[in-house]
Amino acid sequence: MKDQIKRLAKERNAIILAHNYQPANIQDIADLCGDSLEMSIKAAATDADIIVCCGVKFMAETAAILSPDKIVLMPNPEAGCPMADMVTPEALVKRKAELNGIPVITYVNSSAAVKAVSDICCTSANVVKVVNALDADKVLMTPDRNLAEYAAANTDKEIHLWEGYCPFHNALTVDDIKAAKATHPDALFIAHPECRPEILELADAIESTSGMIRFAGESDAKAFILGTENGLLHPIAKAHPTKTFYPASEKLVCTDMKKTTLAHIVNSLETLSGRIFVPEDIRIKALGAVQKMINMK
Ligand code: 13P
Ligand code: SF4
Repeated sequence: MKDQIKRLAKERNAIILAHNYQPANIQDIADLCGDSLEMSIKAAATDADIIVCCGVKFMAETAAILSPDKIVLMPNPEAGCPMADMVTPEALVKRKAELNGIPVITYVNSSAAVKAVSDICCTSANVVKVVNALDADKVLMTPDRNLAEYAAANTDKEIHLWEGYCPFHNALTVDDIKAAKATHPDALFIAHPECRPEILELADAIESTSGMIRFAGESDAKAFILGTENGLLHPIAKAHPTKTFYPASEKLVCTDMKKTTLAHIVNSLETLSGRIFVPEDIRIKALGAVQKMINMK
């Protein structure tokens, strides 16, 4: 199937993007892997005719928002993000009005329709930068409460929270971390900002998925406990073969991130199935929020 994918991708001038949480065999056949921010930027820069986005729906929608002239395919369109489903455009517009129209910063883990009613997007890699760059003392952040609390701890601004969360990162407990640290006492603990504040307090570093890969390379430490989805174990170990990586918990497995298979990719490239369409009126508005984030230096 790997050869078939390479051949089909070449014939169709398609580029394959994979998120850092994708199954190992999918990351290995992808042209580009990365975190959500890198995927957005790479999707915008490619000159391919087709983008095959291996991840979850909000990532494919972001590619479609940025590349209206390209065909964006999601090999398995069933792969969603439960956190993204915790906010609707209607509820967000209502809350913004209740807060006298303060700016809304929306995590890219959200639908195109939610981005369309937001002022700017952010990812786990740039959230603090985005909050600090906004010309406002008060902001509303959606949908991830934990990411918002992390940002609040790193800025003087008043941050209003939305009660959303990632069911996997949010399930990590202090006891999980204590147990992992007791088993691997020499390892540093790197946490994703989607973890709860009491978990972030125990972390030696707080990073996006690609930030974790960079941090492990720059650190003198030889071993690391990863407080994120366990798919990251593959690219991080591949990038740093002399270092050791342990999951903070075996339960950190995002079921949606594992829904895409090589067979889905073959089928999608053969039949152009799984095409993602974002209605043009929503796309234009969502583009404003995503592009503002990408343009931020
Ligand atoms: P990153 O942007 O850090 O890759 O995270 C995406 C995600 O879905 C985290 O759960
Ligand atoms: Fe969504 Fe969590 Fe899965 Fe990331 S790990 S895609 S936030 S459910």
